[in-house]
Amino acid sequence: MKFGHFDDRNREYVIETPHTPLPWINYLGTDDFHSLISNTCGGYSFYKDAKLRRITRYRYNNVPRDVSGRFYYINDKGTIWNIGYLPTKTDLDSYECRHGLSYTSFHSSKNGLDAKLTCFVPLKDNCEVNLVSLTNTSAKSKTFTFYAAVEFCLYNAVDDANNYQRNLNLAEVEIDDHTVYHKTEYRERRNHYAFFYGSVAHDGFDTDRNVFLGLENGWDAPEAVTKGISFNSVVHDYYPMACHRYDITLKPGETKNLIFVLGYVENNPDEKWEAKNVINKTKAQAMQKRYSTLAGVTAALKDLKDYWDALLDKFVVKTGDEKFDRMANIWNQYQCMVTYMMSRSASYYETGTGRGMGFRDSCQDLLGFVHLIPDKAKERIIDIASIQFEDGSTYHQYQPLDKKGNADIGSGFNDDPLWLVGATMAYIRETGDTSILDIPTPFNNVKGSEKPLYDHLMISLMHTINNKGPHGLPLIGRADWNDCLNLNCFSTKDGESFQTVENNDTHVAESVFIAGMFVLYGSDFVELANYIGKKEDAKLIEKEVKAIEEATVKSGFDYDGGYFIRAYDAYSHEVGSSKCEEGKIFIEPQGFCTLAGIGKDKGLGKKAIDASFKYLLDDWGCELLYPPYSTYHVELGEISSYPQGVKENGAVFNHNNPWLTMACCVEKEPERAFQLYRLNAPAYIEDKSDIHKTEPYVYSQMIAGRFSKSYGQAKNSWLTGSATWSFVALSEGIMGIRPQLTGLEIDPCLPKEMTDVTMERTFRGCHFHIHVSNKPGNKATIIVNGKEQASKIVTLVKGIKDYDVSVTMA
Ligand code: BGC
Ligand code: NOJ
Repeated sequence: MKFGHFDDRNREYVIETPHTPLPWINYLGTDDFHSLISNTCGGYSFYKDAKLRRITRYRYNNVPRDVSGRFYYINDKGTIWNIGYLPTKTDLDSYECRHGLSYTSFHSSKNGLDAKLTCFVPLKDNCEVNLVSLTNTSAKSKTFTFYAAVEFCLYNAVDDANNYQRNLNLAEVEIDDHTVYHKTEYRERRNHYAFFYGSVAHDGFDTDRNVFLGLENGWDAPEAVTKGISFNSVVHDYYPMACHRYDITLKPGETKNLIFVLGYVENNPDEKWEAKNVINKTKAQAMQKRYSTLAGVTAALKDLKDYWDALLDKFVVKTGDEKFDRMANIWNQYQCMVTYMMSRSASYYETGTGRGMGFRDSCQDLLGFVHLIPDKAKERIIDIASIQFEDGSTYHQYQPLDKKGNADIGSGFNDDPLWLVGATMAYIRETGDTSILDIPTPFNNVKGSEKPLYDHLMISLMHTINNKGPHGLPLIGRADWNDCLNLNCFSTKDGESFQTVENNDTHVAESVFIAGMFVLYGSDFVELANYIGKKEDAKLIEKEVKAIEEATVKSGFDYDGGYFIRAYDAYSHEVGSSKCEEGKIFIEPQGFCTLAGIGKDKGLGKKAIDASFKYLLDDWGCELLYPPYSTYHVELGEISSYPQGVKENGAVFNHNNPWLTMACCVEKEPERAFQLYRLNAPAYIEDKSDIHKTEPYVYSQMIAGRFSKSYGQAKNSWLTGSATWSFVALSEGIMGIRPQLTGLEIDPCLPKEMTDVTMERTFRGCHFHIHVSNKPGNKATIIVNGKEQASKIVTLVKGIKDYDVSVTMA
């Protein structure tokens, strides 16, 4: 069952009912100011950091769901309704929500009043703009009251939800007839404030939530709104909010536009005040002015659309498969950009109060957006590398506001350093810019400790080399990619976090997955080091790659089961092998070790793929492991804490299915690659939205597996490495467009139904127009600008900007 449809021409998903199985959300903002917005207008806004600069409040685990947001109420002679349906839940005569690229619009109507709302964060300002258009479609004149309301958060979202004894005494606002300024704590150490502005002078206002809602009411029935009045309340403690009221009369056919701006302003400490206790509003008023007219808003919205057009023009495919093209050209790339901005911080599954930017997460996210915004990728790489320690280990996360390593979670995840190599390689392959390697980059952000980024890569690899276990395989440390395989944790205390509990690393537990990573990224590094003339380093790492590859072939493959083993635990027992009672096979090493080409000459990759399809495949993809653990294993940790078939204990993890898809491409199995790709790509499973439940336009972290009571149900939508890796599998695997140091490699792995494919790709400032003919009996050739060439890598020629490539596949 579906709850909407794709509108590809406008690059929108159109939701036709507010009754989606879960709030289906979108993200607004492309730089520092961000908002989450659901299809019922819920969500919240923050500046840079969802934990430390929260502008509006959101209540988690709330009932009814999703009733914190920007809410527009209409009181039409006692019938009270919202443009986005919630919180009043009044049935609407019509409803539509369109999630587009960094904007969301609503169109609803009730009793002859038609309401449109468009929400976006402009490219150049720290604010969310909401344009409201109200039209009287009835034959009679209409008089009604209109309310625009938001609830402020006291900036630090954790403190806001904890420290009531202080916070309920602090609220401060300033008000004029267009704007409520939220200035709590501005009198002392904060140099920033927020505001909620309306383009039309209001007829009344409220800023005290207690007064606005009334004693026993929720947001579904605020007393001010039900009475059709305002209390003109001026908050001085408890809960600051902003509400503007308008008394409106519309003739038949008449339209009224109102514009609202939720803004954020920072002032220099010596320019904070306009007069005693009166905040300096210069910047705020300048911002308000820019969006005070329809022309200003329309122009800003157009800039935003142009921005996305320009970005998405860099990679466009036409395959004849509408669903594939929609994922490739719109939604998958869009999700990659959103995950780049948010990492795993703020979604409807991540409160934004916990995690900042993850080291491994951000490194992987980069693979999905580097072709779109390479400059930002460069900056991100340096930020990430700056939280590394001198021995190559690294903090696991940092807060985006100060970019400092997060001590709460600490370090010890032994896969982390290697992702930095993968991310940097992707940047250099995309841009050709090896100068990034020379950038002085600190350790643990300590001034004076800077070394060239190149050294960071080298010590990342050395970290694995210096931390090997009894089988010559990399030690796992606290965990590798699979945060829930905690082989050194041995947690028995209730409530203890598996992620931060003391790490009892006895230097025995080893990871075959990290071995795969080392072989893949180590080999990449060898290529890079040779390319820039660091022959000695290349030799050293090549030798180590060989050693770990041999160790994996010897001790990392289950020759009885016919697939890669997952790990050795702290007792040196195999994890993920046919010897185990449960958790006999894991997906991660099958994909990654095959990608790395480990044991290719012995056909290990082919076997690993066969085994994965045999044991792990369900209707939604390949599950993470099989069979899931039915009891808690203290020696394995969090993975065995989940019920069977969910999360890391046997769900389809959309993040690592693409590794297998790519492995299929490496092993030249196009049909299997496409089969797997399709099983969880959102556009292909849209008509199962009632089972899948999360948004049908983006990937979720996981889809519950066969052993779960909720088989097929997805969770943790939006912020997941699934976005990036699915895009890499799609673009580099199936489409076969792979940036290399020396040029653009074109080596498609197309299923037989894709007979004619065209692709447009911007690469290092040049435009590639690629046509692939994939018909049985073809002779494999590649013709570049009229000339046949033997290599699959197209090198750039000075002075030539356009490359017309024709590929005929055998
Ligand atoms: C989740 C993992 C996540 C980890 C780190 C675990 O509870 O299952 O998916 O990576 O927490 O936050
Ligand atoms: C989600 C985390 O963000 C990521 O870092 C981890 O690799 C996966 N879960 C698997 O546990």
